[in-house]
Amino acid sequence: MAKTKTVFVCQNCAYKSPKWIGKCPSCNSWNSFVEELETQEKASLKKTAKISPGSIKKLENISQKQNGRLTAPFSELNRVLGGGIVQGSLVLLGGEPGIGKSTLVLQTALKLTNTTVLYVSGEESPEQIKMRADRICKPESNIYILSEINIHKILDGICEAKPDLVIIDSIQTIFDEDLSSSPGTVSQVRACTQIFQEYAKKNQLSFLLIGHINKDGNIAGPMALEHIVDVVIQFEGDNNNYFRLLRAKKNRYGSTAEIGVFEMTNTGLNEIPDPGMLLLPDDITDMSGIAIAAMNEGARTLMLEIQALATTSVYSAPQRTATGFDIRRLHMLLAVVEKRLGIRLGQKDVFLNIAGGIKVNDTGVDLAVIAALLSSVFDKVIHRNTCLMGEVSLSGQIRPVPNIDQRLLEVKRMGFNKVFISKFQKTSIKNEKDFNILKIEKVNNLSPLLFD
Ligand code: TYD
Ligand code: MG
Repeated sequence: MAKTKTVFVCQNCAYKSPKWIGKCPSCNSWNSFVEELETQEKASLKKTAKISPGSIKKLENISQKQNGRLTAPFSELNRVLGGGIVQGSLVLLGGEPGIGKSTLVLQTALKLTNTTVLYVSGEESPEQIKMRADRICKPESNIYILSEINIHKILDGICEAKPDLVIIDSIQTIFDEDLSSSPGTVSQVRACTQIFQEYAKKNQLSFLLIGHINKDGNIAGPMALEHIVDVVIQFEGDNNNYFRLLRAKKNRYGSTAEIGVFEMTNTGLNEIPDPGMLLLPDDITDMSGIAIAAMNEGARTLMLEIQALATTSVYSAPQRTATGFDIRRLHMLLAVVEKRLGIRLGQKDVFLNIAGGIKVNDTGVDLAVIAALLSSVFDKVIHRNTCLMGEVSLSGQIRPVPNIDQRLLEVKRMGFNKVFISKFQKTSIKNEKDFNILKIEKVNNLSPLLFD
């Protein structure tokens, strides 16, 4: 077969080079060259092509063709997908290696009784998949396994098996022989995803692609795939912990606010429909440096344990480390504490950890981070019936958080009875005999009320 010509293109400024180069001579960006198939582009105004009559339509005259959705057997997965896998769509499931992506998709496939599924694996042999399937659930007969990494052979396999859903595990192992770069490189992964996308739209077939994420949290290079696929969901959690969170990063057919919660057991993944207290250990003892926050994710409120430790530094440049929390936001909150509360943190190492290995995106936990920090600095205990929610601004003011009523109801249900919120927060939930809502205006008002 004749080799197709390829060219290396800078992803920043579209400069083309016949060879891979590390630094773009045009825009000076590093590591931005990606191999692409060469297309003969001759832009000319003289050349026009006729479009077929009726191609331009008035928006109001376009009839809404509702694509069917394939309802997944997990309601937690459906919630994140916005109601199921849309026919003809490409869903990308990302996650760190070993988090449970293959287990989730295999379990989903095994439970889809009236659907034909083709499971393409480039990582595991059919025997390994069979062994796993036997362990997690009784295998159904309508799931076909194909162990293949060549994309053109996979497409041939799809034509033969005629499935309703194709699972690709994982997209990083698949390659297109027209490109000379090896499987897993940005150009291969992108080219293969584009081919699947085209095939999906043409044949109204749904694809579920698995993608390993690198340590920056990106799937095979920055934004390489996210704009091609229709839905991006991510599986997160701590390998040492049993629970997993499923989040939508992009969804063309629904909201990205929802999360799904699962636990990993020795017989596969189980859903957790009521995860409120899941992330809190059963045995919270009264120790300094710990504060509880109520985090909101879509229709869910989760209680989080925020751990902080401030110790005298032995280095000239003190360390700041955050796990599960944005380090720049921690720097900002430390600056607010220094300036507004006058607490000297310049000589202290500060460590922050969100228990359970989850990553926090909600700025509503700011107040709890400051509370945990104050608790560590003063070595005073925050009683475990206390919960905090509020965003902290640069001026030290406590700002309102969204969905407060929902959070407060959940906090009450979980048995917390002392809750700190912003003074500017409007809520219909009132103070009750056993439920005390403390409204504070500034971080300065926090510590006198926190440790009693
Ligand atoms: P896997 O789905 O292979 O992860 P990924 O595809 O994301 O790399 O799951 C890997 C881990 O899950 C493995 O280390 C063991 C654990 N596991 C269980 O605890 N119970 C089970 O029933 C299964 C199938 C896996
Ligand atoms: Mg896997």
